Amino acid sequence: MRSPEATVFRMRNASRNFTHGAGVTHAVRGATLDGVSGEVLVLLGPSGSGKTTLLSMLAGLIRPTAGSVELFGHDISGLPPQALQRLRAARMGFIFQTFHLFDVLKVEENITLVQRFNRVERAPAKRRAKELMEILEIDRLAGKYPSELSHGEKQRVAIARAVANRPELLLADEPTASLEWNQGLEVVALLQRCAREFGCCVVCATHDLRMEEVAGRVLRITDGVLTGTAEGAVGAGIGSDADAEKKRAGDGGTIKKPAPQDGTGQYVRIPD
Ligand SMILES: Nc1ncnc2c1ncn2[C@@H]1O[C@H](COP(=O)(O)OP(=O)(O)OP(=O)(O)O)[C@@H](O)[C@H]1O
Ligand SMILES: [Mg+2]
Repeated sequence: MRSPEATVFRMRNASRNFTHGAGVTHAVRGATLDGVSGEVLVLLGPSGSGKTTLLSMLAGLIRPTAGSVELFGHDISGLPPQALQRLRAARMGFIFQTFHLFDVLKVEENITLVQRFNRVERAPAKRRAKELMEILEIDRLAGKYPSELSHGEKQRVAIARAVANRPELLLADEPTASLEWNQGLEVVALLQRCAREFGCCVVCATHDLRMEEVAGRVLRITDGVLTGTAEGAVGAGIGSDADAEKKRAGDGGTIKKPAPQDGTGQYVRIPD
């Protein structure tokens, strides 16, 4: 059993609706999920099922229309915007589906700036950026602007930026979608190492089966309904009562996948 301090987020019965014209889309319906330090949660679901909406609620970027989200013990509905922003900058990393790079900054500056926000000195910030750029094979792009990059290159810059501060919570939306096979493999390994080496809680929406192999828990979302949230191999998350019941009954509320062994040569090194 993990100590309560290890809980990174708690989502309780969170729903998010979008109204448009006369209609309403129920993008997420009553999701309950906990995340703890050092675990990798993989979120699977077809297009339009609510993955990005769920991650955006966890990021505090959109508010639930019902239910609650707690980040590091703070209910985000009670946090002033600036406090939430500080929390995000200091303790969280995001890999967005659409990247959201700073267009006016070069690649290296994109990766150092987030560290400078966190008061990391210039020299160590540059060192960390260089090491991550080498791991992700984007070092030769250091002086380019995002508009000069391919989709896959932008995605790797976004990944480097997201992990640069060694976040406690990393939210990744289809992080391997634009990458070729080997680069995708490196990203999977990088996310796994974030969990192992600095206890990051990683939540990753993906269609990439390789992410499933490193997941402590595999969650599924269909038409806004989240399932598979019961306690997993790595974490101590609290799922819905129905999930807990399923798990007790042994009928697979949670899908456990063993993490691959180290020493396969597939892992990339994360700089200290
Ligand atoms: N800002 C918005 N306004 C209106 N509807 C929205 C908005 N954002 C998402 N939706 C709707 O909510 C539902 C869930 O969208 P979401 O982007 O979370 O799906 P997704 O699982 O991430 O899909 P994909 O795999 O294509 O990225 C969809 O029906 C989508 O059209
Ligand atoms: Mg999405």
